[in-house]
Amino acid sequence: MKSPKPISRSEFLNQVGVLGTAAALTRPVLAKSQPMAESPPVLPDRKIRLAVIGCGSVSNMYLPHLSKSPYVELVSTCDIIPERAQKAATTYNIPNHYPHIDQLLAGAPFDLLVNLTNMQEHARLNKQALLAGKHIWSEKPMANNYREGRELLDLAQKNKLRIWGAPAVVMSPQFAFMARAIKDGKLGNVSAAHAHYGHLGPTWSAFFYEKGGGSLPDLGVYNLATLTGLLGPARSIVAMTSIVTPTRKTDNKETFPVEAEDNAMVLMDHGNGILSHVQCGFNYFDPYGHEGTGQEKPTITVWGTQGNLALIGYDWAPFGVDLATAADEKGQRYVTDPSDYRWEMGASVIAEHMALGKEPLIQAEHALHVLEIIEAARTSGQTGRRVKLQSSFRWPLV
Ligand SMILES: NC(=O)c1ccc[n+]([C@@H]2O[C@H](COP(=O)([O-])OP(=O)(O)OC[C@H]3O[C@@H](n4cnc5c(N)ncnc54)[C@H](O)[C@@H]3O)[C@@H](O)[C@H]2O)c1
Repeated sequence: MKSPKPISRSEFLNQVGVLGTAAALTRPVLAKSQPMAESPPVLPDRKIRLAVIGCGSVSNMYLPHLSKSPYVELVSTCDIIPERAQKAATTYNIPNHYPHIDQLLAGAPFDLLVNLTNMQEHARLNKQALLAGKHIWSEKPMANNYREGRELLDLAQKNKLRIWGAPAVVMSPQFAFMARAIKDGKLGNVSAAHAHYGHLGPTWSAFFYEKGGGSLPDLGVYNLATLTGLLGPARSIVAMTSIVTPTRKTDNKETFPVEAEDNAMVLMDHGNGILSHVQCGFNYFDPYGHEGTGQEKPTITVWGTQGNLALIGYDWAPFGVDLATAADEKGQRYVTDPSDYRWEMGASVIAEHMALGKEPLIQAEHALHVLEIIEAARTSGQTGRRVKLQSSFRWPLV
C-alpha cells in the first residue's frame, strides 16, 4: 500500500468544497484521523451546513447530537411524511423543512446531506444529491449493491465531492484498543474471530424486511465493519442466509411477507490464514434489550497464538475490552469508558473533519467493502459458492 502524502488544510477544504473552489482531487489524503502537521487546535472558519433527509426513528438520535456540535449548522430537514420534517425542524430550531428532495436541493443552501431514509432509498437520493453538488453522510448501506456504491464513489470523485457511509464503529476507543493490541503483537499470530449481533427486529417500519432490507445491512454491517477494520479487508467469503419468520406486521404495514434474510452466517477469509465469522439476525432473544445495557458478555472475540481479546457489549456501544495474554493469563478489562464516542456520531465526525481540514478514520471505501461482503454473502447463500471480493480499503486503521 502506498503511504499517503499529507495535504494542507486549504487543499482538504478545497477537496471537500467548503472553500467553494474547484481544486482538483489529485492527491491521496491522510491515512488516519489526525490534525494537519503543525496545527494547534483549530476553530472552524465556518460551520458545515447540514440538511437531514429522513426524520424517522434514527433522526431522534442524530438530531440531538448534531444540534450540540460546534462544527454543524442545521439548515434543513426533509421527509416525504411532511409533518415529520416539520416536527424535527421545530424541535431542533432548524429554519427550513421540505416534503421532497427536489425542494430540499433547490431550497436553502447546504454543504452535507445526512441521509437517514429507508435503506432502499439511499442510492437514489445520494446520487441526486451528489449531482446537485452536495457531500454525503449516508446511513447504511450507502447503496443497494456494490456496483451502485462504486458508481456513487466515482461520481463523487469526478465532481470533487465526498461521500461517507455508516457505521462509525471504528471511532470507538475500544476499537482503537483492540486494533492497537493486534498491531503491537499482543495476540501473537492472529488466527480467528467471531462476532454476533441480533434482536427481534424493528417494529416500526416494513422496509427492514422488504427486498433491499435485511439483517445483514441493518445489523451485520456493524460486525463486518469491526472485523474487517481489525483483521483487514476480506478476500473471499462463504455464507448461509435464511428467513426464520416468514411474515411480519409493522407499525406502518399490515401483515406482509418477509423478503430479505432475517438470519445470516458469514465466514470471511482475511488472508495470512486469518478466518472470521459474523452472525446476525432479527430472531435473537436478547435479555439485555436493544441498547445492551448491563451486558457483561462479549459479542466479539479475537484469538491469537499469544492472547485473546473480547469486546464487552455490542461493537456500536461497547463497555470495555477483556485482554488475556500468555504473560497475563487471567486477563484484565480495559477501556470501560466510551469517552465521547457515540454510535450516532458519524455525521458530526464528518462535519468536524470537514471544518478542520482533517481526514476522518471512517472511510467510504471501507463502507463499500462491507457492502460488497453483504452482497457476496447473499450470492454465496443462494449458490453455495465461495465468493471472491474485489474491493479493499486503506488498512490498518490505527
Ligand atoms: N432506528 C435505529 O435505531 C437505527 C439505528 C442505526 C441506523 N439506522 C438506519 O437509519 C435508516 C433509517 O432507519 P429508521 O429506523 O430511522 O427508519 P424510519 O422508518 O423510522 O425512518 C425513515 C424515514 O425516512 C423517510 N423517507 C423514506 N423515503 C424518503 C424519501 N425518498 N425522501 C424523504 N424521506 C424519506 C420516511 O418517511 C421515514 O420518516 C436505515 O438505514 C437504518 O438502517 C437506524
